[in-house]
Amino acid sequence: MSLDEAVRALRDGDLIHLPTETVYGLAARADDPEAVIRVFEAKGRPRFNPLIVHVGTVELAERIGVFDDRARALTQAFWPGPLTLVLPVRDASLACDLARAGLDSVALRMPDHRLALDVLRGFGGGVVAPSANRSGRPSPTTHADAIEETGAAVRVSPDGGPSRVGVESTVVSLLGPARYLRAGAITRAQVEAMTGPLAADAAEGHRSPGRLSLHYAPDAPVEINVDEPLPGRVYLAFGPTGHDGPVLQLSASRDLHEAAANLFRLLRQADRLKPVAIAVAPIPDEGIGEAINDRLRRAAGFVG
Ligand code: TXA
Ligand code: MG
Repeated sequence: MSLDEAVRALRDGDLIHLPTETVYGLAARADDPEAVIRVFEAKGRPRFNPLIVHVGTVELAERIGVFDDRARALTQAFWPGPLTLVLPVRDASLACDLARAGLDSVALRMPDHRLALDVLRGFGGGVVAPSANRSGRPSPTTHADAIEETGAAVRVSPDGGPSRVGVESTVVSLLGPARYLRAGAITRAQVEAMTGPLAADAAEGHRSPGRLSLHYAPDAPVEINVDEPLPGRVYLAFGPTGHDGPVLQLSASRDLHEAAANLFRLLRQADRLKPVAIAVAPIPDEGIGEAINDRLRRAAGFVG
């Protein structure tokens, strides 16, 4: 695949895979409802769940959304990178209603991935890119997993290597007081250092729209915070374990970043063993551990 083919496919309103540092995305041009509708259809994603618009330059982001001082400080600190900002929409023609689920706000992000940035800059406009899994399933973090999930829906699927971060971007709303809507690699503390204190979390359901209860879920049931797995389980360990059964290590050295990078790939690998259940070790709720625990609670169906 060449960069030109990916750019041409976007121009034509076709879908491509967009490898990013967080997870692989299923991408389409954001200004064309017919292109965006294909993304919802390929994923089986409910239409009320708005998409993130990916940009290759800050200049384009400032044309799509209304930036204030906090948005500028955050983008200077963390773009390109795993941080999505929800801002008032400035030019709705650049991010169609369907992409925004009809809201008067827009979610913007500049991914930190060479190939993604080349594609985005080559195309020049905003690009929606939800994770390239079918709705409700674990996000793909390798090219093979992206192909397995939605390969049939894309015209071009660039191989960008394994995603370095492994969990989706942090989502911060700046519509009022800064709010941490989705945990990711950019932590609450890192955001607060730029914005001042974050507003208290809204009740679940009033947060990012479309955060469904069973999400990121493999076929096997997921059990979380398990120190001593029962028989028949595949165990996702975090450091040394005495489990007498199949063990997949999130991180032998108990490194949270390594665990995040391995999380979705190992959930898929565990699922292929067709176990009674997948048991996961307790993960410290610090730093990127908050994002890991958020995804694990959803994989286990504990967030409603
Ligand atoms: O890491 C990522 O962000 C990946 C990669 C591919 O870039 N993309 C991703 O996109 O996760 P998506 O579209 O699945 O994530 C959208 C998240 C959802 O939680 C959605 O509810 C929230 O962003 N969101 C989008 N627009 C919003 C808005 N206007 N207001 C509040 N939340 C919004
Ligand atoms: Mg997703």
